[in-house]
Amino acid sequence: MFSRQPAPLLGLDISSSSVKLVELGRDKSGNLVLERCAIEPLERGWITDGNVEKFDEVAEAVRRLVKKSGAKTKNVAMALPPSAVITKRIVLPGGLTDQELEAQVEAEANQYIPFPLDEVSLDFCVIGPSSSSIGDLDVLIAASRREKVQDIQGLAEAAGLKPVVVDVESYASRLATSRLIESLPNKGVGTIVALFEVGALTTSMQVIRDDEVLYDRDQAFGGAQLTQLIVRQYGFSPEEAESKKRSGELPDDYESSVLRPFVESWFRRSAVRCSSSSPARPITRSITSCWRGALRRCRGLLWR
Ligand SMILES: Nc1ncnc2c1ncn2[C@@H]1O[C@H](COP(=O)(O)OP(=O)(O)OP(=O)(O)O)[C@@H](O)[C@H]1O
Ligand SMILES: [Mg+2]
Repeated sequence: MFSRQPAPLLGLDISSSSVKLVELGRDKSGNLVLERCAIEPLERGWITDGNVEKFDEVAEAVRRLVKKSGAKTKNVAMALPPSAVITKRIVLPGGLTDQELEAQVEAEANQYIPFPLDEVSLDFCVIGPSSSSIGDLDVLIAASRREKVQDIQGLAEAAGLKPVVVDVESYASRLATSRLIESLPNKGVGTIVALFEVGALTTSMQVIRDDEVLYDRDQAFGGAQLTQLIVRQYGFSPEEAESKKRSGELPDDYESSVLRPFVESWFRRSAVRCSSSSPARPITRSITSCWRGALRRCRGLLWR
């Protein structure tokens, strides 16, 4: 009864095709459980390239989402796409006070950020003792145009939520993935893991080993292209193609004629880019966040 639980927090994902909400809790043994989740579609063009083009419409969709999810918690964590955030790892002297550290971060940030600092939301975190110079600290700085942060905060507030965290999408998914990696043999230590996230317009791939990111790239490629291929192959309207794709009501040759070549060409492209930019060791695990039907087919293909 008196056990201290962390304050509940919702996760809100604002993407090009939908807004999604999750609420996690813990069971009696402390394992994470999914308490609530909900999704609300967005019309095409409301969000493009991470920009909120139709604020009122998206805010209304977030409001519907919160209502239908039944979430009672107001605190919410959100994230910006990596394209909207500049991150840089810098080295600063150890032993500074918090104020000195802040002043140093601002001075350093000036060099890397192509906007005036008063138009920017700037944050930093101390990663730990520097690996390259004894006594110094490795510090991660993150900066985004203030209007981008204000846009997503405003959307949450318009739906009655209280934004408490604005993360970077790729950092948030890495953190979530680290929980899965911990369940691998030997807690995944030293294992090279590829994380694929397939969205409607953007697919991201990250290759991770322990806490190190070996490769991290977004591609303008995703489920919307598969819908276009279905339109072209069978002559459906885009809406019909999207809904048939989701429900699986497609002609018998769909898998061999459309889906398989699509998944293969996408994986080849990703693998070629990755191996040409980081000829490291082979990927030994993959974790894929995408639609279930395609997911089954994605496995196996990776290892060719
Ligand atoms: N059952 C399904 N089978 C195949 N594709 C599906 C299925 N359900 C959803 N999709 C596709 O998944 C994509 C939506 O993925 P997701 O919700 O991750 O996109 P998003 O987050 O809005 O996009 P982005 O991150 O690119 O902005 C869409 O292209 C949709 O058509
Ligand atoms: Mg997404």
